[in-house]
Amino acid sequence: MTALSSSDAIAVIGAGTMGAGIVQVAATAGHPVYLFDTSAAAIDKGIAQIEKFLARSVTKGRMDEAQRTAILDRITRCDKLEDLAPAKLVIEAIVENIDIKRSVFGQLEDILAKDAILASNTSSISITEIAAQLKRPERMVGMHFFNPAPIMKLVEIVHGLVTDDQVAETAFDTAVAWGKKVVHAKSTPGFIVNRVARPFYSEALRILQESGADIPTIDSCIREAGGFRMGPFELMDLIGNDINFSVTKSVYNAYYQEPRYRPNLIQQEQVAAGRFGRKSGRGYYDYSEGAENPTAQTADAAPAPTEITLIGTNPLLVPLAELAEKSGITVTTDTTEDLSGFIIDDTLVLLTDGTPASELTTVIGRPAVVFDLALDYTAASRIAVAKGDQVSDADLAKAVGFFQALGKKVSVIDDCPGLIVMRIVAMLANEGSDAVYQGVTTPQGVDIAMVNGLNYPKGPLQWAQDIGLEHIFAVLDALSSFYGEDRYRTSPLLRRAVIAGKDLV
Ligand code: NAI
Repeated sequence: MTALSSSDAIAVIGAGTMGAGIVQVAATAGHPVYLFDTSAAAIDKGIAQIEKFLARSVTKGRMDEAQRTAILDRITRCDKLEDLAPAKLVIEAIVENIDIKRSVFGQLEDILAKDAILASNTSSISITEIAAQLKRPERMVGMHFFNPAPIMKLVEIVHGLVTDDQVAETAFDTAVAWGKKVVHAKSTPGFIVNRVARPFYSEALRILQESGADIPTIDSCIREAGGFRMGPFELMDLIGNDINFSVTKSVYNAYYQEPRYRPNLIQQEQVAAGRFGRKSGRGYYDYSEGAENPTAQTADAAPAPTEITLIGTNPLLVPLAELAEKSGITVTTDTTEDLSGFIIDDTLVLLTDGTPASELTTVIGRPAVVFDLALDYTAASRIAVAKGDQVSDADLAKAVGFFQALGKKVSVIDDCPGLIVMRIVAMLANEGSDAVYQGVTTPQGVDIAMVNGLNYPKGPLQWAQDIGLEHIFAVLDALSSFYGEDRYRTSPLLRRAVIAGKDLV
């Protein structure tokens, strides 16, 4: 264990949203903390933010008054950089500007002890580049916290090209001692979270752009079937569409216009219109007083089937068959079929593998309706379905009635490949897999980062494995052949795992 001792002094530069949060984390862990900001008013505001948070913790019984006072007493306000001299670790959380960050670290080199660690909380600037002009660039590392820092568990420890392994280990172990979930990441654009999360937004925008489903339907399916806390449009409105658009553009350009990260015109229009989201009162939703927002498309009641056949051997479908039996539907099983789903009368109701229902209907020669992935089919309250273009409404109604009999709301969406949850989860897993393939982090690193940095209900790689890597591979392959775009190419690591029959995580 190489964590700093709680008696070692920590310095934080920048008393804004992130800096104040990091001060609180370090002071709560017992360290003396020195806080510097060029603006005295910002320090006042930052300390007031900490006081408010701690007062709430006392009211809620999470700490007592003595602990609150002790934490605040450990924080020292500083009005010049020289005051930070005793610090063993300095975490910079100032404005996101490389020149200003470089200048601050340049000055710090002459103020701090030779073995002090220099850390930046930057979310988008290369740690290698910030460190490049230092006399000892090897002692520079990224410590990327998430907002709000006292609540969000994740810290990404970002290794620049020349970061000393021991420096990164000390930063890692210290963050662990502060109660954080910590992952190593190579200094690459977006690090882990801001890279792997791109498809969550971009695929949702793509589905919307192609009129696959509307905004509340996409959000509701992601929450009610996918188990995410917020849908992509709700989350973009919370983050701020201007910020989300700028992160997307920055990752896209930093990867030399990699098509997977290409921004969407819908985002650009939102930003151009000043629809930044909650903070401006209007984004994809209207947040003004008394505003009525559209709700998810939900199908009218359709008759329940009396009997169904479960086809194939996919374990994901077992809970659906159990729910069907509980609701009085007779379930027979046919394991000889290659397909995953149900037969209701002569209609195929299949778990999407990315192949559009129209194509399945033509290839198999029977009417096909596809249904979406759920994190947990027992708990899901909504399922998206899509029929082939040539399939009748009567055939669609059989699928709708089936899921309604199981207690689910049903959203009928367009026949877009992979529907909503399956498509987004497959693309998240693909991105995570590529991050591992390119040495940014480990498979565990991807999953820990996405669960603790963004509260995903499951790590995308573990999720892909639970669905079956071959199934995810099929979804990506179908997207790739449907669109013919490089954006949907399968990560080589995923391809290799499928070919070798090996696990990813
Ligand atoms: P903020 O704007 O709330 O705070 C920045 C603070 O830095 C201000 O109080 C400002 O007075 C101070 N400052 C500016 N130049 C300074 C200098 N030369 N010396 C000392 N203080 C200076 O910014 P925020 O949101 O806290 O972000 C800070 C850093 O953290 C940025 O690098 C950002 O990319 C990163 N970050 C932000 C996250 C967020 O959600 N806001 C999440 C993770 C990282």
